[in-house]
Amino acid sequence: MAKKNSHVTWGGRFTAGPAELMLQFSESVSFDRRLAPFDIAGSKAHSAMLAHVGLITPKERDAIHAGLDAILAEVHAGKFTWETKLEDVHMNIEQALTQRVPAAAKLHTARSRNDQVATDMRLWFKYACAALGEKILGAQRALLAVAEANRDVLIPGYTHLQRAQPVFLSHHLFAWMEMLDRDRARLADVAAHANWSPLGSGAIAGTTLPIDREFTAKALGFVDAKGRPQVTQNSMDTVADRDLFIEFAAACATFGVHASRIAEDLILWSSTEFKFIELPDAFCTGSSLMPQKKNPDSCELLRGKSARLQGNLHTLLTLTKGLPLTYNRDLQEDKPPVFDSFDQTAICADVLGGTLAGMTFYRERCAAAVADPALLATDLADYLVLRGVAFRDAHHAVGAVVRLAEENSVALDQLPTEEVQKIHAAFGADWVEVFDLRRALAKRTGTGMPGPLQVARQFARWKKRLK
Ligand code: ARG
Repeated sequence: MAKKNSHVTWGGRFTAGPAELMLQFSESVSFDRRLAPFDIAGSKAHSAMLAHVGLITPKERDAIHAGLDAILAEVHAGKFTWETKLEDVHMNIEQALTQRVPAAAKLHTARSRNDQVATDMRLWFKYACAALGEKILGAQRALLAVAEANRDVLIPGYTHLQRAQPVFLSHHLFAWMEMLDRDRARLADVAAHANWSPLGSGAIAGTTLPIDREFTAKALGFVDAKGRPQVTQNSMDTVADRDLFIEFAAACATFGVHASRIAEDLILWSSTEFKFIELPDAFCTGSSLMPQKKNPDSCELLRGKSARLQGNLHTLLTLTKGLPLTYNRDLQEDKPPVFDSFDQTAICADVLGGTLAGMTFYRERCAAAVADPALLATDLADYLVLRGVAFRDAHHAVGAVVRLAEENSVALDQLPTEEVQKIHAAFGADWVEVFDLRRALAKRTGTGMPGPLQVARQFARWKKRLK
């Protein structure tokens, strides 16, 4: 039964409290309690500001701070009692504080839960982006170690999952490295966008009280590189805006896509058909029926989790698309998807790092795959180009050479020179030298190419960058 509602902060204008079912339905404390450290930091800064402008006394501020510190310690120790009937993290903490510290009745002066939750989440996004950046950095370091351990290995690069051209394995691994590095940069961008203080926006229209928004911004670290405070510029936008949620979920989803594509390469490479790599036992599982099986489960789950990360982004886009300004309670549903994106991205980055760190390469299998001279057919066309043949004609001539080799069931480099010269007179006696793999790679000297000099440059670059 609904009863008089004195426990909640907004109870004054109500004669009856919410139904039990409504409490269950509307509570968010079960998931937003993880914001407690950020909520407490926000309240400390806010009360410091209130004292600074004379709205509370220094004594009241100190009592509030001591009370909040005690609550934080209890939260960390798992001793704080969270009450569902108090709805959310904000009211749970404020109520607990009010019971201990009379001055806490003044804490919510010139503040609304709307600018409060916006503040908590901006602080959380800054933390979350930094934490995920570190996790991804860990995966990148694992990747660099694998590249270093297999520095001289060559493999075919693929397009359309068909063998295309030879590359250093490291060049392929460094393609993944670039993807992961963009993920870190994207998260850093989200953190930079989060770096504006909402406090002072109130419910939607600020406050009549003489607050100091810059003071709070500084106290909470919402400052630019020069330490100047950054405060949001429109109170209505501030409490309605959920762009950060979308950006954060998008950054996680993009990482998920990257992890999934890397995982797919690993799954292929570990198959008997490729057998380029052995995945670590620690990240694989067996079959309950087939004793011989070793399944690449960590990779498959990375691929699967990426769907979940995309789903979270989609939830947020759909959640916000039709909302009138400003705050609507729908927005409480903004937190589960971003928390889930954080948790899943964090564990995915760790698992990716662990899987990469433990994999080993079958060098002979890689060498055999890359030995196919057909991988250098393009180099043969380039050879003709250097002898004055137009590329289209060169491409056509080499195509005819490939066909001839296929018809005669011989490798491309085993064709008699006279036969090749019948196809195009520009083929010289030295045409087979093109098929020297190391020589072919050494010719790829430009930035971003898989030649040994460039790969060495990339090793140096990543070693420096991932220090
Ligand atoms: N738990 C709420 C949320 O996460 C806090 C903001 C409540 N604001 C309000 N006007 N009811 O959205």
